[in-house]
Formats: sequence, structure tokens, C-alpha cells
Amino acid sequence: MSRSAHPAGPRHADVLPEGHYSAPAADLNVLDEKVWSRTVTRDADGALTVGGIAVARLAEEFGTPAYFLDESDFRARCRAWADAFGPDADVFYAGKAFLSRAVVRWLKEEGLNLDVCSGGELTTALDAGMPAERIAFHGNNKTVAEIERAVEAGVGRIVLDSFQEIVRVAHVAQRHGVRQRVQIRVTVGVEAHTHEFIATAHEDQKFGIALADGQAAEAVRRALSLDGLELIGVHSHIGSQIFDMAGFEVSARRVVQLLAEIRDEHGVELPEIDLGGGLGIAYTPDDDPREPHEIAKALSDIVTRECEAAKLRTPRISVEPGRAIVGPTAFTLYEVGTIKPLEGLRTYVSVDGGMSDNIRTALYDAEYSVALVSRTSDAEPMLVRVVGKHCESGDIVVKDAFLPADLAPGDLIAVPATGAYCRSMASNYNHALRPPVVAVREGEARVIVRRETEEDLLRLDVG
Ligand code: LLP
Repeated sequence: MSRSAHPAGPRHADVLPEGHYSAPAADLNVLDEKVWSRTVTRDADGALTVGGIAVARLAEEFGTPAYFLDESDFRARCRAWADAFGPDADVFYAGKAFLSRAVVRWLKEEGLNLDVCSGGELTTALDAGMPAERIAFHGNNKTVAEIERAVEAGVGRIVLDSFQEIVRVAHVAQRHGVRQRVQIRVTVGVEAHTHEFIATAHEDQKFGIALADGQAAEAVRRALSLDGLELIGVHSHIGSQIFDMAGFEVSARRVVQLLAEIRDEHGVELPEIDLGGGLGIAYTPDDDPREPHEIAKALSDIVTRECEAAKLRTPRISVEPGRAIVGPTAFTLYEVGTIKPLEGLRTYVSVDGGMSDNIRTALYDAEYSVALVSRTSDAEPMLVRVVGKHCESGDIVVKDAFLPADLAPGDLIAVPATGAYCRSMASNYNHALRPPVVAVREGEARVIVRRETEEDLLRLDVG
């Protein structure tokens, strides 16, 4: 539909400029359960409630913007992953998606393991009491100091990402008189169908050691030759926000082929493989994520089949979901500040946060949904762009969405599925104060990461 044909502006659903959006939902008041966490519903007054608490109360008590995390949903997702993979496999939650000490305790209680990828994440995990043997330590450039801490703590595995690191970890382990359990991260050469910045198994990128040109086989040779290392397996992570199981299947097949080559060359059958994380979630009702049991079955079928063909003992499988566990469990609550209808284009709705609390739209062109949550409305849908308060025109939270045309300053709107990579990638751009994360469960809400204050900003600025 051309813009000039509709100079009156896009206040009606049948008068729309070009863009990436589906038609508005038949009823904007309906909260699609695909994108909202499990205890979210509307109360008799039409306000969104989570864990039985209405957003107006949450906004009053904790302010906006803020992330509200549905703890029962988080725990249920942990259990679903653990149950789907069963006792013969291991689920490592990828802490980079969102990590705090409360989260570590929930993981521990629900029987999950934890993948950390920095000294900071390692400290958080240990401080909150995650047993070191349940921690996997990742990263393409771990510092020697980080390796020291991981080895000293006794982490269950270090995932080796380069030839230099094989030697570094072996030296540190020898100095500590231990044999460190390690995996080697390989790049299997799969083109994952996702944004370039979050695809990680094609060869031209910084992670892992390539299978294709024999580099991975050479890395295995070196790791097996070093006394400080106990090589327990091979690791592959193909990327993030992936819906199609085909890439995981190719990855599993190639990893098993490598295990067969290792058996043939060295006479050892490595006992474990890790197939990484990366499973997609629903950010909008158009996304169709797989359930953990389907994923577990697809992966275990392919590994079993390939191992039978190669006459290998089936290795223990581990996976590392981050987004698929925490992503759907939280939403960001904002207050509407200003509203600018642009004739023939769309209406810009500015909220009290922005790219500092959700960089994913600007960085990956990510799509999100949004809803008016402090009340219901029978007004017609208007095409909006939800933007933040930062000094940047790319400061977009939701690029194209529909909200009721009677939206007004002071209304609360919420963006669902912001549990993963929003607080963990939040910044202080424009000296924004990073929002709190509030866990809500069975009528109780408690801050698990507090809001930053201006004193926090000034404390770092030593004058
Ligand atoms: N395992 C490894 C080795 C990883 O590198 C990652 C993510 C995961 C597991 C977890 O992936 P997940 O299941 O959460 O997709 N900031 C980006 C995502 C970067 C992911 C980096 N590695 C985003 O906001 O989409």
C-alpha cells in the first residue's frame, strides 16, 4: 500500500504504510499466551497481572522501566528441559542470557547445571552456591587469571576454544596438580538461519576450531597429549534464535563423525558431546518454537542413529539453552511519555526506557510485541513504533506494532519475552540507570537485581 494514497495517516488498520508487520490482532486486549509468561493474565479491571499482582501495583512499588520475571514459569521451564533430556543427559543454563544470584539458586534447586563465559559470571555462580562441578566455563579469549580461578574452583569442564587455550589450560592445571576436564569447541560449518551476529558455526568467525580442514582433529591430538587435560568430549554451538532442527542435526552428525575419527586414530571413545544452545522463542505470535521434549527427542534420535552407524557407544549429551528458558519468563514494563502521530506514516510512542534496556532491536533488527497493560481499550488499532528516550534515532524498542488509538501519556505498556539478553546487555548510554529485575511468584514480588541509582553512576566516576 503506498503512503501517498493515504495522506490521512495510519490511525486505521486499513490505512498502513509499508513495513514488517502482520495485520493487527482481532482484539488488542487479548494477551497471546505464546509471547507472555505463563502466569500473565488480565484481571477483572482489565489490567495485566503476573503471579497474581497487577501491573499498576508493580509500577507503583518498583517504578518503570522494570523487568518483571515470572519465577514459577522460569522454574517450570527448567524442569521441562531437565525432564525432556532425562537422567542420561545434562542441561546447562546459559548464564549470558540473564544471570543473578537468585537465578543461580533456582537453577540449583531445579537440578540444572550452568554455563558461564566470564570471570564475572563465574563469581556470581560460585557466590550463590552453584557447585563448581556443575559449571561449564566458556569463552573465546579467557584470560589466564580467569582460567586460574576456574581451575582452582574445580569447574566441571572448561570448553577450549583455540590452540593457545589448550596450552594455557594445561599449564594452569599442571601448576595446580590437577587434570582439568575439558571439551573442545568445534565449528561444524553449518549456516544457521538467524541474524549474522548470532550465528556461530559457519567457518568465518571467531568461535571454535574448524572441523573442515582438520584443525579440530589436530586440537584433539594436542589435548590428548597433555597431562593437565582430561578430554571428555566435543562441543558445538551453531547460533541463536533457531527454529529449524536441521542445523542441529547436521551439527550432531558431524560431531559424532569426529568422535568416530578420534576412536579410529587414538583408540579412545570420548564420553560426552555438547550441542550448545540456540533454540528460538516466540517474540511475536508469528514465531513457532519447539518444545523441549521435541528437541530432546530429535537430538537423541540423531545421535543414537549416527553412533549405531559408526559403531560407537552413545555419548552423554549436554545442551545449553539460555533464551529458551529465561526469554519467555519476563516482560519489560514502561510508562508512555509522549505520543507523536506522523501523518501518513505511523505514531511514535516514547517510553521511559529504550535501547539501554533492550539493545536487541537496534543490534539485530529483532522483532517484539507490545500491549497496553494498565487497562483494556475498545479503540481502533493504530500502527506504532515504540521508541526510547535516548539521543539516537535507532533507539527503537518495537519497530512495528499496533496499540489502541486512545493510548495516552501515563498508560503502562509492556514488551513481552524480554527475559533473555535484555538486562544482561543493558547499558548506561546517556547515563541511563539500568532497570531492576523483579521476580514475581504467587502474589509476592521481590527485587533480585536492584535499579541503578545516580550514586552508582557517580561512584564509578572518580573525578
Ligand atoms: N552456548 C554457547 C556456547 C553460546 O555461545 C550461547 C549463546 C548459548 C549456549 C546460549 O544460546 P541461547 O540458547 O541463549 O540462544 N545476544 C544475542 C545472543 C548471543 C548468544 C551468544 N551465545 C541475542 O540477544 O540474541
